[in-house]
Amino acid sequence: SVTARFIHRQRDFPGEHFSICTTFFSLSLSLQVQRYLERFHLTREKLQEVSERLRKDLIRGLGKHSHHKAPVKMLPTFVRATPDGTEKGDFLALDLGGTNFRVLHVRVMEEQQRVLKMDSQICAIPKEMMQGTGEQLFDHIAACLYDFLLSHNLERETLPLGFTFSFPCEQKEIDKSILIRWTKGFNCSGVEGEDVVKLLKEAIRRRGDYDIGSVAMVNDTVGTMMSCGFRDQSCEIGMIIGTGTNACYMEEMKNVKRVEGEAGRMCINTEWGGFGDDGSLRDIQTEFDVVVDEMSINPGVHTFEKMISGMYLGEIVRLLLVRLTEDGLLFGGRTSKALLTPEAFETKFISEIEEQDNGLENTQKVLSKFGLKWDTVDSCVVRLVCDAISSRSARLCGAALATLANRIRVNRRQERLKTTVGVDGTVYKKHPNFSEELRATVRLLAPKCDITFLVSEDGSGKGAAMVTAVAQRLARQSRLLEESDGETDDEEEEEEEDQ
Ligand code: BGC
Repeated sequence: SVTARFIHRQRDFPGEHFSICTTFFSLSLSLQVQRYLERFHLTREKLQEVSERLRKDLIRGLGKHSHHKAPVKMLPTFVRATPDGTEKGDFLALDLGGTNFRVLHVRVMEEQQRVLKMDSQICAIPKEMMQGTGEQLFDHIAACLYDFLLSHNLERETLPLGFTFSFPCEQKEIDKSILIRWTKGFNCSGVEGEDVVKLLKEAIRRRGDYDIGSVAMVNDTVGTMMSCGFRDQSCEIGMIIGTGTNACYMEEMKNVKRVEGEAGRMCINTEWGGFGDDGSLRDIQTEFDVVVDEMSINPGVHTFEKMISGMYLGEIVRLLLVRLTEDGLLFGGRTSKALLTPEAFETKFISEIEEQDNGLENTQKVLSKFGLKWDTVDSCVVRLVCDAISSRSARLCGAALATLANRIRVNRRQERLKTTVGVDGTVYKKHPNFSEELRATVRLLAPKCDITFLVSEDGSGKGAAMVTAVAQRLARQSRLLEESDGETDDEEEEEEEDQ
């Protein structure tokens, strides 16, 4: 129960806080608080149900005829191989869709199996630009890239470029990628339905002062999987829990009905953030989730993401705190201007508040900053609220990850699956017990899968270079095959017979 979880958490507190916090539960108001918190609690059975619903949605998304209406888009990425450790070279990478826009110069070194970030530069994207015209946005990106090239004496080279563009795109080829829709605070006009590579190249052409080499488009989940894949070649899932949330994994080609060919595997960008957009998660959405969705710039889309990711968690907490205050259960019934300001409660506060050692102190600092009159019981309740909302997020992600792992195991007809997940994102990395709770859920729902988690160091940047490098390796290998065609016919036949 919520109380038991709370007491478990509080056990690590110094004695004084512990007794004050447990006394709180003897008060009648605890029941009313609990009633709110329980709405965020997901039982094992419910999580299993959610995982099963997602399993069915993955199949819908992969289907040739069902994918149009599928809420989980299951987008082919045209990434057909993970790194084999022989990739090398210098690359440029652009990274748009996380906290910042960045330009990077990356070196992939074969000998040491390392991906080195040579240089990188952050370019702010003002909020108005995130919701302005597409032309402005791409002109800005092209200008940032030029500044970077100039300051690193690279303007005369035409390096291949990996573009991590972390939004749902219908990829036609590795260098042709149509934006389906904006997510996370972006809403630039004239980009949805367009080829993002074309828009980038047009912006560079408008300037006319530099050029770029071949382009590979990459979702951040794919970049994360690929950058971890260089270190651990059994990395076949990439997951992001940051501003947004999403995952990709290696699917059998024969199940990817929208792309021709049956042999081998292809990385699928699930876009699991859209799970629930057909109303399938209504039973677990709270009234607070509904408000967050209604107030967002894209109501009705990315339902799952809005219950999980960093862009929304703080706001769910804020809305619940306002309600508890209005019900007289917090701060003597008095809200503050800051607490009533939408989006004022940042997700990073949740991590600070739930910190094991300094959590209570941090809570009190945040509450004071919000101009609230708190006592110790208030601080304990606020910690409980944060815990309920972040735990739900971790468990939902765990359930979704379990669905992917189970699917890979069944696909391969293996009794047990051993696999690695590359992970990135501020929520996963910064929250004190998010990863632990997520793993516990995966163990519960995917008991036949042994999963290693590899935290990616800058997967979006380095991964984009990795995807470009793997694409080049494959092109090189297929060129070699073509060149040696005719000479090796006999050998090939022999190999086939051997199999
Ligand atoms: C986007 C995904 C992305 C995820 C994590 C979502 O909003 O739709 O493409 O991978 O955020 O950045």
